[in-house]
Amino acid sequence: MRGNLFSLEGKVALVTGGNSGIGRELALGLRDAGASVAIGGRRADRNEAVLAELGDRGAAFRMDVTDEDSVERTIAAVVERFGRLDVLVNNAGAVTRASALDLEADAWQHVLAVNMTGPFLCTKHAARVMRTRGSGKIINISSVYGLVAPSKGLQVSYTASKHGLIGLTRVNAVELAPLGIQVNAICPGYFITEMTGDLSGTSFEQAIRRRTPSGKLGDTGDLVGTCVYLASGASNHVTGACIQVDGGYFASDGIDRG
Ligand SMILES: NC(=O)c1ccc[n+]([C@@H]2O[C@H](COP(=O)([O-])OP(=O)(O)OC[C@H]3O[C@@H](n4cnc5c(N)ncnc54)[C@H](OP(=O)(O)O)[C@@H]3O)[C@@H](O)[C@H]2O)c1
Repeated sequence: MRGNLFSLEGKVALVTGGNSGIGRELALGLRDAGASVAIGGRRADRNEAVLAELGDRGAAFRMDVTDEDSVERTIAAVVERFGRLDVLVNNAGAVTRASALDLEADAWQHVLAVNMTGPFLCTKHAARVMRTRGSGKIINISSVYGLVAPSKGLQVSYTASKHGLIGLTRVNAVELAPLGIQVNAICPGYFITEMTGDLSGTSFEQAIRRRTPSGKLGDTGDLVGTCVYLASGASNHVTGACIQVDGGYFASDGIDRG
């Protein structure tokens, strides 16, 4: 392969949950790498705001990743608008914090539906389109909590779902590899977004900094390079991988040795 290995010129991407936080940043980063980018989320006003930033090569669709009809409609609309689908970023996510002794089944189900059933459904319908070209890239946004549990627990359904998403990455990577479709995961550490905004300025934020070898929380822009790599020809022989983007969080045992 010659030329710019990371170019996404002529490619079409769909980013679920692209109207906020990490998804918005990834959508803009894929656009900057040359792709046409569609975002999908439930809030129409937020979709419109990010669509304005994406410009001519953007599209936005009202989409609920937990609803198979909505997923199927959205993927068909992306193909109708741009003629193809090359990259799916399964980024939409939800979290609840509750004790394993108290967590209500409905709250458990909701987080599992968004964080696991959503990527399952989006992968199913995107891969059906991608196989017609014999190529495609699926990028699942898991978490360091797909690899370890938070101290003191509490993010029960989130941790289970993000571990599950890594399993989904691997099983789909294996099945879809012969079709030319690569499936990989990114495991971000802590990034301040709407999901984590309540941590900003707290003693817990300081604890995260101490726990993270770089001493920093991530900037959402720090995730773009890894996403563009996994979306591009540069990663054509990489599938079933989980890449941590966490300032060294997962590399360390985390023990405070003073
Ligand atoms: N922030 C962090 O520190 C961090 C760390 C590790 C992993 N992550 C992961 O990164 C991803 C993005 O999180 P974020 O921090 O950027 O959070 P965020 O700003 O709260 O964004 C969440 C996004 O998911 C969308 N969403 C939620 N439910 C949906 C549904 N049923 N259908 C379609 N879209 C839905 C939301 O849009 P609508 O509400 O409009 O639908 C929103 O765009 C998540 O998977 C999260 O678990 C985040």
